[in-house]
Amino acid sequence: MRNLTLLTVPLLAGCAGRHNWLSSAGAEADRVEGLFWVLLIGAAVIWSAVIGAAVYAQRRQVDPGLEHQARWFIVWGGAVIPTVLVCALLIWGLVILRDITPDKGDLTVRVDGERWWWRVTYDGPDGDVVTANEIRLPLDQTALFRLTSDDVIHSFWVPAIGGKMDMIPGRETTLALTPNKTGNWGGLCAEYCGGAHALMRFDTVVMEPDAFDAWLAAEAAPARVAPDDPGFAVFRDEGCGACHTIRGTDARGPVGPDLTHVGARARLGAGIYAMTADNMARWITDTHAMKPDADMPPYPDLSGARLEALVTFLLSLDHAE
Ligand code: CUA
Repeated sequence: MRNLTLLTVPLLAGCAGRHNWLSSAGAEADRVEGLFWVLLIGAAVIWSAVIGAAVYAQRRQVDPGLEHQARWFIVWGGAVIPTVLVCALLIWGLVILRDITPDKGDLTVRVDGERWWWRVTYDGPDGDVVTANEIRLPLDQTALFRLTSDDVIHSFWVPAIGGKMDMIPGRETTLALTPNKTGNWGGLCAEYCGGAHALMRFDTVVMEPDAFDAWLAAEAAPARVAPDDPGFAVFRDEGCGACHTIRGTDARGPVGPDLTHVGARARLGAGIYAMTADNMARWITDTHAMKPDADMPPYPDLSGARLEALVTFLLSLDHAE
């Protein structure tokens, strides 16, 4: 009984919450879910038939007069029917694969896998709109994801909405997601990619189309930074702009996540901590306690009023008018 509990608890843990692909929130996940149930139930039926036949054969000696029937059973049950079934499943699976990796969608989102976060780029009205670790999608529209990686192989997966797809350095893969329920669905990296793989997550927020358009317009706008903002002075003194970009300022670093509207995101650290002042302060001063192996160096000497000013400045980079 205890062994059964040990086995089922982790299995059922995958069936709960916003990562649950068995109560899907997207058209592509619906199709994968259909394929899963046919495979599971079909396999159960075939398994029962095979075990039933084996038990039957053990219990009674086959009458030599039935040799012809036995041969017929072996040819059909052992070769013809399995071949037809496997080919039908293969074709079904390939059709689904074709449909979830189209050439175009209602909008395009480029996502680069980085160790261990996500660089997200939308086509805005005036060019690229870059953000990080949070993907927003309009309801009932097909988003075509163009996926690649800057370092090692990652895998992009929003279980509730659709399939998963590898992100491969030097290559572009595509994946369609058509969310059909609003909400915040989790996404994660599904390919082991090094130390902080398990902490490489993101939010996928599905919005009404009007709200999505307003969000994208707000993301596309540059940050409004007061020239004498004391937190921005700390940001400059510490050289944060060497790695991070804040559009609308001279911070143009291409290495780390774009911070133009970091204060508008729900989480920091690639989907793992709530975006609060305490977490931001700790992230800056003690980064590796929060995320081992993260590329960002900690700044343990920052404290007091300077740290507070920097945190206040970063959280002010939101969408407020
Ligand atoms: Cu990226 Cu695992």
